[in-house]
Amino acid sequence: MKLSRNDTCWCGSNKKYKKCHLEFDAKLEQLKKQGYKIPTRKMIKNEEQIEGIRQAAIVNNGLLDHIEAHIKAGMTTEEIDQMTNVYLAKHHARSADLNYQGYPKSICTSVNDEVCHGIPSKDVVLKEGDIINVDATTDLNGYFADASRMFMIGNVSKEAKELVEITRLCLYKGIESVKPWESCVGDIGAAIQEFAEANGYSVVREFCGHGVGLSMHEDPYVFHFKPNEPTEVLVPGMVFTIEPMINAGKKEIHLKEDNDWTAYTDDGSLSAQWEHTLLVTEEGVEIISK
Ligand code: MF3
Ligand code: CO
Ligand code: CO
Repeated sequence: MKLSRNDTCWCGSNKKYKKCHLEFDAKLEQLKKQGYKIPTRKMIKNEEQIEGIRQAAIVNNGLLDHIEAHIKAGMTTEEIDQMTNVYLAKHHARSADLNYQGYPKSICTSVNDEVCHGIPSKDVVLKEGDIINVDATTDLNGYFADASRMFMIGNVSKEAKELVEITRLCLYKGIESVKPWESCVGDIGAAIQEFAEANGYSVVREFCGHGVGLSMHEDPYVFHFKPNEPTEVLVPGMVFTIEPMINAGKKEIHLKEDNDWTAYTDDGSLSAQWEHTLLVTEEGVEIISK
């Protein structure tokens, strides 16, 4: 449907189209003519939504800071889950993970060769030398923020340290590739893959970054490798995660029979992941949750 200048904008701002996304749509139309794949309207957040996501991110970041301050050898991953429940309740927020497609806990804790979606357990005791990814998604008043960090427990091997640091740099290569009105989602993946492989690591293919904000997982898919398909051009108002999973060995992964969630590297090599929630702005890109 074509909107007139004085109609209410499609974005939900309640502003007139001419004062809101009219110019934006004209720019997108130009890019489309040039052959770009353009994002759907659902991928574009308005100011009110962005503010809601920012508030959720404050809690999500605070939760990860809190875990960072307390995580140590001898602690079980179940205790990280309990800390999460207490922290989120205190901040009037909710874990988006809990009961998500049957997921049984409030946070993901993936240790060593676990790639992602490790389920907190009283049987998993952190020990000196472990590396662990803690991935939190917070729902505050229906707005979502998603981020994960790596933690090194005590002294870890040089190999583990390097993997953790290169993986963090992979995320930042992806972030730096974002050029509003210019680069595409697929450029993020290409940048990550190039850097990971140049360092002798491999990129997990089965899990992607994703749009986020009004729910935990939205379009678009954000690949961490160079996709073989056209991808959306990046424009202001898009909110999504970048969350590369990088293996020290081969890229192949598997699940185990007893749990449909946790992914492991096939070759038993270490895996690391960092995740930020990002907002594309007119000027560039802003890190919202980290
Ligand atoms: N936080 C994860 C992500 O980065 C998703 C959590 S899956 C769940 O997309 F099962 F734990 F909810
Ligand atoms: Co995510
Ligand atoms: Co996450």
